[in-house]
Amino acid sequence: MPLTLKSASSFIRNLLAWYRIHKRDLPWRRTHDPYKIWVSEVMLQQTTVPAVVPHYKSWLDAFPDIGDLARAPERKVLKAWQGLGYYQRARNLHRAAKSIVQHWNGKIPGHASDLRKLPGFGPYTTAAVLSLAYGQPYPVIDANARRVMRRVLRLHGEANSGQDKTIQPVLEKIFPVRRGAEFNQALMELGALLCRSRNPRCALCPLQPHCLAFARGEQEVIPKPRFRSYRKITAVVGLIKKDGRYLIQKRPDRGLLAGLWEFPGGKVKPGETPRQALVRELREELGVGISEAPLLGRFSHSYTRFRVDLRAYACRLEGDPKFDSRACRWVRLAEIARYPMPSGSARIVSFLMGRRTEKNNLPGRELWAKLAS
Ligand code: ADE
Ligand code: SF4
Repeated sequence: MPLTLKSASSFIRNLLAWYRIHKRDLPWRRTHDPYKIWVSEVMLQQTTVPAVVPHYKSWLDAFPDIGDLARAPERKVLKAWQGLGYYQRARNLHRAAKSIVQHWNGKIPGHASDLRKLPGFGPYTTAAVLSLAYGQPYPVIDANARRVMRRVLRLHGEANSGQDKTIQPVLEKIFPVRRGAEFNQALMELGALLCRSRNPRCALCPLQPHCLAFARGEQEVIPKPRFRSYRKITAVVGLIKKDGRYLIQKRPDRGLLAGLWEFPGGKVKPGETPRQALVRELREELGVGISEAPLLGRFSHSYTRFRVDLRAYACRLEGDPKFDSRACRWVRLAEIARYPMPSGSARIVSFLMGRRTEKNNLPGRELWAKLAS
């Protein structure tokens, strides 16, 4: 039976009854503070609940209210975001916080047209804040709710937002205005806990009587499973130490991992050995040759769309590095922890601080201690 208005009331009743019993106790479900709900919803885009929870807590310790966020330096904001990926989200939160403090006296506006003008407020974040924080009747379609509705309505095709224009009016029509926030959370929660991408738990699902994909046995082919081909990248970095400080540099403000700090180095190009890449990169970036560079360790890390095999070399240089002091700094290990870094580089720092033993670290810290001046 397709989802008609007639069946809508049982759809909603079943969904809400399930949600009240099975919902997870998540920190942002214990608050009505629009700022906190906004932060959680931005973090939850592209990132799973378990990965978000610790970041959400430490973020609110660092920036308890919107004024604290607006006043913070960007480096501290990016640092609090470290590990969540898609750093543009953090920059937009920061910019929007400044704007809200400046133009709205620190209160997050409650109208879609005002919100949409703020950095990072696309249709999703706008609807989520208006519904979850202000109780306004906006359906919220995140990846989980989208998957549920694609299956319930049996909308074939790729797992993307292309069918939202079909889903949106259906949700608007059945939307339970007085239970709107709960309905939105319930649909997302059902997608996260039962209606999962792989192995959906249809036997336990309160929407099963309404689900057209289930009726046809098509729940595993809607949406069409996406084939993720991970790109593999080998990258090299040089650890350069002088008077107890390491040389780190800031990535450009645009592009991949923009504005984060890392050790000098770069990608290995086709036809190049890692060591040749190291020599080339340090020549290009710092105008200097290398006299000695034993491999210190390999630090693999998976990002969203690629996997990096990161190799770190303990470098002794042939001269002094030349660089632009705005983008490059000598920093003590204890202070590096304050700089936002890509996760792979952060692992090298943990290793240097003795917090992490890599299985495949080769010459080890002893050699590094001997080599470094
Ligand atoms: N995904 C997006 N928003 C969410 C929320 N409020 N709770 C759980 N998962 C979510
Ligand atoms: Fe998803 Fe299965 Fe429930 Fe349909 S019956 S909504 S496919 S879990």
